[in-house]
Amino acid sequence: MLRWLVSAFFLALPIGTTIGVLLGIQAINRANGKPPPFTGGEDTGGLPGLGPLRGKDTVVMKCDVSEGIASRTKDGLEFSLTANPWGWKQGEPGNICLMANLNGNRTYATKWSAPAFNVTWQYPRASGTNNVHAFPNAKVMNKKFPVQAGSVKKLDFDVSWHLSLKNDSLTEVTGADVTTNAINANVAVDMFLDTDSTKAGKPESASHEVMVWFANFGTDTFPIGKASVADKGLKTKTLNGTDFYLYYGQNQVTKQKVLSWVASKPTNTFKGSLRPLLDEIFASNNADYPTKTDYLGYFAFGQEAYSSTKNVTFSVPELSVDLETS
Ligand SMILES: *[C@@H]1O[C@H](CO)[C@@H](O)[C@H](O)[C@H]1NC(C)=O
Ligand SMILES: *[C@@H]1O[C@H](CO)[C@@H](O)[C@H](O)[C@H]1NC(C)=O
Ligand SMILES: *[C@@H]1O[C@H](CO)[C@@H](O)[C@H](O)[C@H]1NC(C)=O
Ligand SMILES: *[C@@H]1O[C@H](CO)[C@@H](O)[C@H](O)[C@H]1NC(C)=O
Ligand SMILES: *[C@@H]1O[C@H](CO)[C@@H](O)[C@H](O)[C@H]1NC(C)=O
Repeated sequence: MLRWLVSAFFLALPIGTTIGVLLGIQAINRANGKPPPFTGGEDTGGLPGLGPLRGKDTVVMKCDVSEGIASRTKDGLEFSLTANPWGWKQGEPGNICLMANLNGNRTYATKWSAPAFNVTWQYPRASGTNNVHAFPNAKVMNKKFPVQAGSVKKLDFDVSWHLSLKNDSLTEVTGADVTTNAINANVAVDMFLDTDSTKAGKPESASHEVMVWFANFGTDTFPIGKASVADKGLKTKTLNGTDFYLYYGQNQVTKQKVLSWVASKPTNTFKGSLRPLLDEIFASNNADYPTKTDYLGYFAFGQEAYSSTKNVTFSVPELSVDLETS
């Protein structure tokens, strides 16, 4: 699902939606493929787990803003990292800070890797329609976007993430932590497609959204089209030992058609191709689903932050997206 980001440049429509089925999106300039300005070296503000700064361009931080941090890689795939608190206004309770390590040399694990990053946030639980506060994410700034979906030959996705209440990011939250602290969040890849190549790059206007959920915490997160907690979806696809269930539904507000592949259990590490998930959708020959001739214009990985009564840290030490076209 998607929501517009209200900004000075973009007039958002007033949208309401079903509880628990909202997804944040990027600022419009990022949706349009413009890399955000690079900034770095702010005061760390005593954030948990943050050691001494190792140079102005090494550890960068952005708090409570949608402005992004560009990975500014020398010869690899560019990413734009943003805290993106689109469902929060200055003065309201809650906070979010995104930190990334640009390694000083802006060279990362592989040509397709994002800088290691993490996001520390907390927001009160909101009832009703506006219950998502932020969608911190890393967006792929592939110069080839938009690409025709059928021409994507390789979509290798490698990720390792943690969700932790501790300042070392190594201790994963437990079910009891989730309940005690009203943690509601998911972890997902978000893609947008459209027959029109321009619209495909714009989450607010694309006809289709395809998501891959690696986890969801709390009861507020619910993929569109999932009928009940026991609902195992329309199809199952097993990738790298993880079962993904497919759900389909239409966003009642935006009318976007949304397909969500949801991991059957929290999947903290994944290494493999996401192409079979797209292929399965194309092979369905369903008039409501996207097709191979549609354009893929947007690919991001992040966390929808609904609520947590304590600072929780979503960290992504490893993320690489190798998307190659024919
Ligand atoms: C983070 O954890 C370490 C080790 O447990 C502790 O020494 C340190 O004070 C903590 N820092 C903050 C900001 O909580
Ligand atoms: C967040 O990332 C920064 C930059 O790499 C790092 O210094 C810090 O220790 C990380 N914090 C946590 C909680 O993982
Ligand atoms: C919670 O995280 C924010 C950054 O998002 C930080 O400014 C604040 O000091 C943290 N609070 C505690 C109690 O650790
Ligand atoms: C870039 O910096 C990182 C972190 O200091 C280091 O591990 C890596 O080897 C460096 N890479 C190059 C190509 O200099
Ligand atoms: C699953 O992951 C392993 C490495 O953990 C990798 O070698 C393999 O290619 C992956 N499988 C698929 C289907 O991508």
